[in-house]
Amino acid sequence: MKINLTDKKIKSDLEIILTNGIKDLEDKEILEQLGFEGKDETSLFLPESKKIFAGYEGEDYESLAIAIAQAVKKVKSTKYESASLVLDSDCSEKLKAIVEGIYLSSYEFNKYSSKKEKKTKQTINIFVPKLSKKLEDIYEESKTVSKAVNKVRDMVNTAPADFYPKTMANVAKDLAKDVNIKAVVHGEKYLLENKMNSMYSVGKASTNESKLIHLSYTPKNAKKKIVLVGKGLTYDSGGLSLKPADFMVTMKMDKSGGCAVLGTIWAAAKLGLDVEIHAIVGAVENMVAGNAYKPDDILTAKNGKTIEVRNTDAEGRLVLADCLCYAQDEIKDIDYIFDYATLTGACVVGVGQYTTGVMGNCDKLKQTAVKRSHEAGEYATALDFNRFLRKAIKSQIADVCNIANTRYGGAITAGLFLDNFIYEENKNKWLHFDIAGPAYVEKEWGYNPYGGTGAAVRMNINLLKNLIK
Ligand code: BES
Ligand code: ZN
Ligand code: ZN
Repeated sequence: MKINLTDKKIKSDLEIILTNGIKDLEDKEILEQLGFEGKDETSLFLPESKKIFAGYEGEDYESLAIAIAQAVKKVKSTKYESASLVLDSDCSEKLKAIVEGIYLSSYEFNKYSSKKEKKTKQTINIFVPKLSKKLEDIYEESKTVSKAVNKVRDMVNTAPADFYPKTMANVAKDLAKDVNIKAVVHGEKYLLENKMNSMYSVGKASTNESKLIHLSYTPKNAKKKIVLVGKGLTYDSGGLSLKPADFMVTMKMDKSGGCAVLGTIWAAAKLGLDVEIHAIVGAVENMVAGNAYKPDDILTAKNGKTIEVRNTDAEGRLVLADCLCYAQDEIKDIDYIFDYATLTGACVVGVGQYTTGVMGNCDKLKQTAVKRSHEAGEYATALDFNRFLRKAIKSQIADVCNIANTRYGGAITAGLFLDNFIYEENKNKWLHFDIAGPAYVEKEWGYNPYGGTGAAVRMNINLLKNLIK
């Protein structure tokens, strides 16, 4: 779907009307007869008058983005080439939701379909009587952010046979090249030489070499230095603690955290944000072979801490442990360090499949992240650490165990495990985002089609912009 933001009345084939209720509409009678009330998540197409109605109940981002997504679906179901939408000149609050709602809901992933439908791109003409620089800036930014989200979806949706650590590194290099930022990729030799035994062990059994990806965006006059670390499990079979068949399906999505940080740095560089950003991804495949790492192994992470492995399916935290150490060793005077991971099924059970779990030691920072997430149209909630859960990952023979001694609070105990690899000076600068739920959906919702959603990108851009204000 194309968008054309214009202050000229362009003739379009269809007309989109977003409405809160129907009492003020001239078509009220027919709409009433057809049972359309102008409520959230409902829409109606009147073919004779070529009008598409979509309901919304609040002026908030979520309600508007869902409404326009409903309308986009109707436009897509026709062969008409264009549709118009009229907004007021003071629509700055709404425009972001509308533009992102259109781009995100019209996303399609056709890479693997043999029938390549050649459909001409449809256009939505957004008419605003008086266009201002402010509106144009919002439009451009929303377009870039949507592009980043859709790039992340493409990566996440790509099959594991076509997207393994080396592919991820190449995609990262291409993204870096596109926005002129630095890209460094390390292989397993580097992991061994730099005592990153924890990350190395997870990828040992794979025929695809693990890669440590580091992109840096270092604009002059940067106001803050922010490090983003992502779990990039291009496949998680569970390893020797093998996943049951039904749970293994979709585990190509275990790279979503890594993909999100790549999408974020690309968008931030493209937007020219005044912030130094480092995107660090542990790209690894968790597989089974004779040389696989085992439950009972003791691994030593880059900071010297020893880890008792009791379950090879709790691999994401082992990869992140070394990536977090690498980040803190390589990058000095960090203002914030955030990690993103599809880390635990427990987080999905706890907060549902639409919501990100936000963890860390600083309550204020957690609350800021949750707020910025909601503003950007993503659900998030804080999950609090406590001293008793911290004890649940104690090991009898090593410094820490990679699983807890209780089934309860699994998202939090995973977060507490990561806290072992955050250096003292960074304790309050760190947040962990568990995106296991929202990163991937098997049933479309709102403006998210089936598959990868690009979770965390919109939240991140909003958070970064506000942290440097
Ligand atoms: N990648 C999974 C977590 C996951 C589960 C993500 C479902 C998305 C949907 C992770 O590596 C994992 O397997 N975690 C285990 C941890 C357990 C062994 C302590 C889990 O959640 O079951
Ligand atoms: Zn796992
Ligand atoms: Zn995993």
